Amino acid sequence: MPQSHDLVVVLDFGAQYSMLIARRVREANVYCEVLPHDIPVEELKKRNVKGVIVSGGPASVYEEGAPKPDPKLWTCGIPILGICYGLQLMAKDLGGEVKQGKKREYGKADLFIDDETSIFAGLDHTMLSWMSHGDTVVKLPPGFKQLAHTDNTKFASIGDPEKKLFGVQFHPEVVHTPKGIEILKNFVYIICQCKPTWTTANFIEEQVKLIREKVGKDRVLLALSGGVDSTTVAALVNKAIGDQLTCMFIDQGFMRKNEGVKINDLFTRRFKVNFISIDASERFFGQLKGVVDPEKKRKIIGENFIRTFEEETKKLGKIPYLAQGTLYPDVIESAVPGTTTGKVAKKIKTHHNVGGLPEKMGFKLIEPLRLLFKDEVRRLGTDLGVPEDIISRQPFPGPGLAIRIIGEVTPERVKILQEVDDIVVGEIKTAGFYKKVWQSFAVLLPIRTVGVMGDKRTYLNTIAIRAVTSTDAMTADWARLPYDLLEKISNRVVNEIPEVNRVVYDISSKPPSTIEWE
Ligand code: XMP
Repeated sequence: MPQSHDLVVVLDFGAQYSMLIARRVREANVYCEVLPHDIPVEELKKRNVKGVIVSGGPASVYEEGAPKPDPKLWTCGIPILGICYGLQLMAKDLGGEVKQGKKREYGKADLFIDDETSIFAGLDHTMLSWMSHGDTVVKLPPGFKQLAHTDNTKFASIGDPEKKLFGVQFHPEVVHTPKGIEILKNFVYIICQCKPTWTTANFIEEQVKLIREKVGKDRVLLALSGGVDSTTVAALVNKAIGDQLTCMFIDQGFMRKNEGVKINDLFTRRFKVNFISIDASERFFGQLKGVVDPEKKRKIIGENFIRTFEEETKKLGKIPYLAQGTLYPDVIESAVPGTTTGKVAKKIKTHHNVGGLPEKMGFKLIEPLRLLFKDEVRRLGTDLGVPEDIISRQPFPGPGLAIRIIGEVTPERVKILQEVDDIVVGEIKTAGFYKKVWQSFAVLLPIRTVGVMGDKRTYLNTIAIRAVTSTDAMTADWARLPYDLLEKISNRVVNEIPEVNRVVYDISSKPPSTIEWE
């Protein structure tokens, strides 16, 4: 963790909101990490933690096996903000009383502020809050006072300002509590006395220094995917060590239309890095001949990617370091039980992307984004000059169009899908929906259907359009795209792509379907 920043931590009690809380704190330019709920207080002290946020959780404090923090937490002297379950835990452990509420309070509630001196400083007397709880604090612990209430909940916020212990029953981190960020700011600035130093400019300066120190005069290799993470790492490492960086792009043959050219342009003209582009498409198409099983496809693509990478790096001489675009959610996911981002998706499909190159290849890793959330990476990329179309690019799977071609993957079928995809994504962008949906793309189906064009019977390919809304790809809903947009896409595809005579729209959500068709 960067030594120069004040640190606030969120203790994770299995809440879907933990990461969101950390992101909000970072939006206030204060560095924040998510740590396991039972981390020992000594550990927090060792790291000079300035404030602790105890997150909400699905459990009731009286449930058997309900997760508990280190018992010394509440009296350790570090300022604490308990949210929902965190508030209830604090109240119960410090001698208050928590009861199952008569009715569950869920949704928006007017919050009336009773004390405007600490976490509610500078806020209006009434504000909107988002509630989601069954249990409620019914008796205050000694030393605590009521800071805010709602019509249903007397102790919607409580605190012992002298000991710097605070709790809120509602969720200040969600957008449904519009002034919630102000409460978090008050906590970190006024109560914890943190300085707002967590900015992109500072981050770049620190990382450039760190990378230079770590690498010395050695060389660094980076495998580019064309996505925002690897491109941003490339821009950052390039800024730090310039010529010592070599970026390798392996074209498997399943990119979208013109993507290879765009990547080439970006890295040779804009960033001017040592850029090696490998056209490995023949190898991949050869290996995929006759293969239709989705998992087999993934396996073949993954293995061949690594083999190509190994073969090509051997030609480059000694390069001890490999830079990767690992992000913070991946880091916490492997460290904190209870956080689930991506897990389900990973169990169902064997994912492959350039981030997973095997460490057995003997590289020392450089992962400058491992502390960042995706939105922070986007801001960083923007500041480093990464073009907007990469910054706002929707997620794109490592195996590319190969898993959007149902059945055998051939160069001809890739070409068809590239052309269709270009129309689909182009129209969705023009209509202003590209950033509103999580992913939107075309799938080439392995069935031909009968159609009529002019006076002639046709027997051609079918295209499925898939567009979903989602926040994390774990669950997704089909996007309600306007009919006239779908109509335009369908007309253009059928008129402009001679190999296609039918377009269908996928109206399945995840679960039970998945986002990709394979
Ligand atoms: P599914 O289809 O499982 O996808 O709902 C969830 C998210 O993961 C992406 N995805 C992949 N990403 N390699 C990747 O790097 C893969 O093999 C892969 N399969 C699916 C998918 O695009 C969605 O964002």
